[in-house]
Amino acid sequence: MKLLNSLLLVAFVCLTIYSSWNGRVHAEDDIEVDESSAPKVDEDIGKSREGSRTDDEVVQREEEQIKLDGLSVAEMKELRESSKQEFVAEVNRMMKLIINSLYKNKEIFLRELISNASDALDKIRFMSLTDKDVLGETEELSIRIKSDKENRMLHITDTGIGMTKDDMIKYLGTIAKSQTSEFLTKFQEAQASDNKQSMSDLIGQFGVGFYSAFLVADKVIVTSKNNQDEQYIWESDSSSFTVVQDPRGNTLGRGTTVSLHLKEEAREYLEEHKLREIITKYSQFINFNIYLWASKSVSEEVPVEDEEAAATATPKTDDDDASVEEAKDEKPKTKTVNKTVWDWELMNSAKPIWQRKPAEVTDEEYVEFYKSFTKDSQDPLVHTHFVAEGEVTFKSILYVPKVAPSDLFQNYNKKTDSIKLYVRRVFISETVDDLLPKYLSFVRGVVDSDDLPLNVSRETLQQNKLLKVIKKKLVRKILDMVKKMSEADFELFHKEYSTNVKLGVIEDSTNRVRLAKLLRFGSSAEDKTTTSLEKYVERMKEKQEFIYFIAGTDRDELEKSPFVERLLAKGYEVLYLTDPIDEYCMQSLPEFDGKRFQNVAKDGLNIDKSKQAEERLKELEKSYEPLINWIKDGPLKDKVENVKISTRLVKTPMALVANQFGYSGNMERITRAQAYQKSGGDSASQYYFGQKKILEVNPGHPLVKELLRRAESDSSDSQAKQMVELMFESATLRSGYELRDTAGFADRIEHMLRSALNVPLDEKVDEMPDFEEESEKEPADEQEVSAEEDKTDQTAEVCINH
Ligand SMILES: Nc1ncnc2c1ncn2[C@@H]1O[C@H](COP(=O)(O)OP(=O)(O)O)[C@@H](O)[C@H]1O
Ligand SMILES: [Mg+2]
Repeated sequence: MKLLNSLLLVAFVCLTIYSSWNGRVHAEDDIEVDESSAPKVDEDIGKSREGSRTDDEVVQREEEQIKLDGLSVAEMKELRESSKQEFVAEVNRMMKLIINSLYKNKEIFLRELISNASDALDKIRFMSLTDKDVLGETEELSIRIKSDKENRMLHITDTGIGMTKDDMIKYLGTIAKSQTSEFLTKFQEAQASDNKQSMSDLIGQFGVGFYSAFLVADKVIVTSKNNQDEQYIWESDSSSFTVVQDPRGNTLGRGTTVSLHLKEEAREYLEEHKLREIITKYSQFINFNIYLWASKSVSEEVPVEDEEAAATATPKTDDDDASVEEAKDEKPKTKTVNKTVWDWELMNSAKPIWQRKPAEVTDEEYVEFYKSFTKDSQDPLVHTHFVAEGEVTFKSILYVPKVAPSDLFQNYNKKTDSIKLYVRRVFISETVDDLLPKYLSFVRGVVDSDDLPLNVSRETLQQNKLLKVIKKKLVRKILDMVKKMSEADFELFHKEYSTNVKLGVIEDSTNRVRLAKLLRFGSSAEDKTTTSLEKYVERMKEKQEFIYFIAGTDRDELEKSPFVERLLAKGYEVLYLTDPIDEYCMQSLPEFDGKRFQNVAKDGLNIDKSKQAEERLKELEKSYEPLINWIKDGPLKDKVENVKISTRLVKTPMALVANQFGYSGNMERITRAQAYQKSGGDSASQYYFGQKKILEVNPGHPLVKELLRRAESDSSDSQAKQMVELMFESATLRSGYELRDTAGFADRIEHMLRSALNVPLDEKVDEMPDFEEESEKEPADEQEVSAEEDKTDQTAEVCINH
């Protein structure tokens, strides 16, 4: 009898659910319903009374179902047929993609549906902050999942915002989100190139949304009630969909039920243990209660004689002890029976992870939480969990993803919602831009504050002073977290985010010093690895005043640059900056640890500060004055700003340096590339391009010495003049600048080659004989041609034989 009772109970539950989606199809009888006395099907989803239903009630409920709506099956069918709509093409493509590529990972459908339910709950909760009435229908904010084995149905019900008829057509019939179509494009690209890894990454990043329901279902029915509209039913077999007003009226109150008619091969998702497993997996970080309609076995003391009476009583675990005692006292003749009861079982602890004490959260939980809201398939690189106190109190968990998003810089100036903002545990669905500075937009996390006003509109939030304080603290915490990383982690961080750090140095003057400590550059002191500025400073020579650096395209080029010759020879360390942004970054960084920077490709480099050195320089300047003046006023009159004796060159005769505020060759190259991109370039860079440079000559170089001799003896020496021009041009190239007068340069080279090979300068080039065009080819020619052809054929054959 007990067993029978339990079976009936199960049957009842199944029936209830079955009719909740299928009721209208059965509605053949045209019987009026007394609305007040007939309980609505879905009113019961959400309450846990079913556990104690009697057989009579089951029968009665069944009858009520049949009476529900005033439409015949035929009418219903017609209604559906008339509302039939095709999906937009994108949706079809999307569904195909999902089904074909995710068939091995079907269970994510539940993650997506739970996440949609949670989004819908977030929305209504957010609205309720300013308008309590929106919760009029029901205060409860929860998700309930129920399986109905008999009908192979799975129902996911939420009391979220629900959808109006238009919403359903818009959101479930088209791809509303720009993100989804972006996903589609990217996914197809990855598919075309057969890039399996990036395919699965993409799915991780984007989430595949509502359509993943078709991974497991051949039919999906969405019943939804939004405060602004009647209750509607959306139904689809994945090829087309219908939307009809629910003939049963408003049974949900508010919210949505997604009912899946599972495919035969997806039956396992009806099993309680399976559901339990995947709900647990995907619900831990959902901030609403998620219930599963589940059975459990309870043992109960029942009197031996009177089984019937016991069967109708609701077993309550809490009261077990009491009832056992009572039983002992009054009715000694009892026995223990195991009974299966069905009830809504809470599957998650809705207490948000960030509200817990860090010591009580495991590393795995942090990782899972990260994955749950970022949809990243990889673990994060690091995280920090803290409570900030003071002017404003807030709790936060922040993460650095292992891999930077591929569009990090394309979207640099776009708003991001990388930080989820909660006020007193309520998710603020409005994206608050500016919670992090742009250069840190790759950081993901949550912030929850009790101090922000609950009455949040975009404007009030944006202007809120407390938000500025939060931002400041977040930046500090992030920089702190990076600073404390292990060396190995930092290496990964640097690989992904070094450009962000440099942008930070440029943009965030408050944290410049902290950020500068995170910079890493190639260095003449390190063969393979990079160095920090701190280490550079530690290694500085006793009297070294400056941190020396040079910027260019790669280390090889920089190591051979004339600018570093003498510095390296004297044992100074030079930083090699090879990232295009490096030189900009350095311009924003006047000093580090009290040491100023010196770009060695620019004027102002003074390696030897000793008295002797200064005296020697003065002497040299004096003795070379004739050459310097001769160059300045003669051959390079319009080409250089100044000519100086160099202290930085060893092997190279001459070099071209920019003045302190001018563009180095590297900077010119970068700016030029950018200007081309922008087509035209701005006038500021045009100004810089036009700027003349300073020519430095190496007084120890034999060619320079020879020039001095010639300048002194004969200022009209044309050979010397040409040599100076050539040396200037090669210095231009060696210093990383572009050559302006390339034709003149080529002429001068030829001139020099003629002299070197003793070919008279005036010897003319042979003129090409002028052949008249002929109409017919001569036979001899033809033969030659065919011989050529033979040869090519042979080669072709050889190739093939290979
Ligand atoms: N349970 C639900 N309640 C209310 N609206 C929903 C629900 N499920 C889906 N939607 C609507 O359908 C849209 C599409 O969902 P989905 O494909 O998962 O994309 P996404 O969640 O990324 O927006 C949602 O944005 C939402 O407007
Ligand atoms: Mg979604």
